[in-house]
Amino acid sequence: MPERLSDFVTYELIDGVAVIRTDNPPVNALGNDVRAGLFAGMERFDADPQAKIALIHCEGRTFHAGADITEFGTKRKDPQISALCDRIEAAGKPVVATLHGTALGGGLEVAIAAHWRIAQAGSKVGLPEVHLGVIPAAGGTQRAPRLMGAAQALEAITSGRHIPVEEARDLGLVDEIDASGDPLAAGLAYARRLVAEGKGVRRSGEMTVPDATPELFAQWRERAVKQGRGLHAVLYCVEAVEACTLPIAEGLKRETEVSDKSHADPQRDAMVHAFFGERAVAKIPEAKAAPRPLAAIGVVGGGTMGAGIAAAALQSGLSVVMVERDAEALARGEANLRRNFASSVAKGRMSQGDLDALLESRWTGAADYGALKDADLVIEAVFETMAVKKEVFAKLDAVMREGAVLATNTSYLDVNEIAAVTRRPQDVLGLHFFSPAHIMRLLEVVVGDKTAPEVVATGFALAKRMGKIAVRAGVCDGFIGNRILGAYLKAADMMVEDGASPYEIDAAVRSFGYPMGPFEMGDLAGLDIGWLDRRGKDAARDPAERYAEGFLDRMYENGWLGQKTGMGFYDYSGGGRSGPPNPGVLPMIEAERRRLGINARAFPPEEILRRYIAAMVNEAAKVVEEGIALRPLDVDMTAIAGYGHPRWRGGPMHHADAVGLARILADLRDLAQEDPGFWAPAPLLERLVAEGRRFADLNAPAAG
Ligand code: NAI
Repeated sequence: MPERLSDFVTYELIDGVAVIRTDNPPVNALGNDVRAGLFAGMERFDADPQAKIALIHCEGRTFHAGADITEFGTKRKDPQISALCDRIEAAGKPVVATLHGTALGGGLEVAIAAHWRIAQAGSKVGLPEVHLGVIPAAGGTQRAPRLMGAAQALEAITSGRHIPVEEARDLGLVDEIDASGDPLAAGLAYARRLVAEGKGVRRSGEMTVPDATPELFAQWRERAVKQGRGLHAVLYCVEAVEACTLPIAEGLKRETEVSDKSHADPQRDAMVHAFFGERAVAKIPEAKAAPRPLAAIGVVGGGTMGAGIAAAALQSGLSVVMVERDAEALARGEANLRRNFASSVAKGRMSQGDLDALLESRWTGAADYGALKDADLVIEAVFETMAVKKEVFAKLDAVMREGAVLATNTSYLDVNEIAAVTRRPQDVLGLHFFSPAHIMRLLEVVVGDKTAPEVVATGFALAKRMGKIAVRAGVCDGFIGNRILGAYLKAADMMVEDGASPYEIDAAVRSFGYPMGPFEMGDLAGLDIGWLDRRGKDAARDPAERYAEGFLDRMYENGWLGQKTGMGFYDYSGGGRSGPPNPGVLPMIEAERRRLGINARAFPPEEILRRYIAAMVNEAAKVVEEGIALRPLDVDMTAIAGYGHPRWRGGPMHHADAVGLARILADLRDLAQEDPGFWAPAPLLERLVAEGRRFADLNAPAAG
């Protein structure tokens, strides 16, 4: 009979093997009770004269998947995971861990503190702490390099990636793989074999790390700076792993010091906010509605977005019908679609034959809307013109089956107006994908006045199926993301007119942690898009408003449309996706300033960022106040998943809270003296500051 060590952990002697078993569903998280039970198990094992070897095993679907996230932010009871791992390693007789499922973070640290490891085929291991802004702190940074070498450990720990166990065996993290699907039986057999072969205690802490040279760490520090784009945690990881040349006790002490530093870093709060925010965005008023079935989807338009959406759907196992205007446009659509798989083919992840077979079995192209009659959901991705959208939706209304979901990928247009041309506005919503749609993680689910709850839930279900982050948005010009983008781009354009160069602005924005600045982004998207948008809005111009668009119109008139014409704010004539500044741009901007009678003044980087961020936060506050975004965290996840906002800053609202809302408000009041129309502070911001509250206080879960 098993002896109970704690609520979730038992001890049982089976043929001389002390089985220390955890049964804490769903993922055997290393909570207070489990840690106490495992620690007691090691004590019991060392004192048990009949036990020759111990086996750490978990019931259910996985080995310890990691720390217990419900204990997040609470003070954990002793023993901590680190003390538990030290105790396991110190055992006087051999200890085996038998892994299955996903052994991540603390789970893997427990496993590598044991002396031997066997794992079920198909399981995964990893040290993902870097994603929360911290480092593995229960010996992971010291024991992993001793088992797999410093270079491999640096790669695993700084990337935080999930490593297939077959690869982990080749790297030395795992000793044996078993494919029986029975981790207990396999662990017992392995333990008996080890005893029979006279294999004893083998402490990873006593191993050395031959490849841990100063050059290696210098190289990785450089790499971490480049790849982390301002994220400190990658550097903390390198710093901790570097201590693996010290005796283990000293290395562990060093690991604790670096870990404490990472926990005190405000970046950690931002990363934790992003981690939980990605889950919290699914808490929407419609969460309890049952999504409609999703097997076959239709895509209207095979351009940039239609082909990307089709690729995303095929990758997630759905069937796709693509409808284009005529046979010629359809052929281009198919070519666009195939191009989206080109890098997978080039990298050997799929063969040309696999791609052909995939399209053959689950893709249909048509120039006739009738082909959509059996689709469960259709996404329209045609030209961004209301008249065209209305024409398409009238046709969809005529052919789609009852109960099908009708979605538009529009970036800016009024979803209610589009829905109104159908007899079923309750089935219509916006599904705003980002380019490239098969790669970008964000999906804005735009809810119209009449959209039914199940239809919203279906949009979220589609995102989940595609591995995307869905954010619920209300209807307005640009929804959450593009509307806020419009505000900070305008701040940037005004600075250019007033004296900043596009290159100074791009550099300042990159220094904040964005992968690119607004003018590099314009070059990438194509400067004709903004020009078309401005011409569409010409009729509605407010003579009292400042537009700051002359230099952008000149770019268009010069044919400098960005990467696609080889020339934009930057010169791409050398090929590739970056290049030196276009030498014609600054003289053109100076001429434009003269035309407007503006005396250029200097904008230091701090001033550029002060304005850029103030414009962003102010518009975001309006978006929350108007209910376009449910909560500040929805804005944050939109900015991170779709607009390159640095994750380690947690999104514009989290960043504003961290800086202090009073500071942002003071900046806005100051700027409003210059141009009250643009910079007047959002009432929500005024109110929060007056009440001494923060955006985070508005992040309570929406009803669901
Ligand atoms: P695109 O110009 O690359 O493709 C549009 C496609 O629609 C063309 O292939 C055209 O032949 C087809 N089309 C036009 N009228 C049609 C009709 N009546 N029936 C069937 N097909 C028709 O445009 P893109 O960039 O793919 O944009 C499509 C939509 O996605 C627009 O509403 C745009 O605002 C939106 N969007 C674009 C993003 C981007 O970065 N390009 C990002 C997010 C949304």
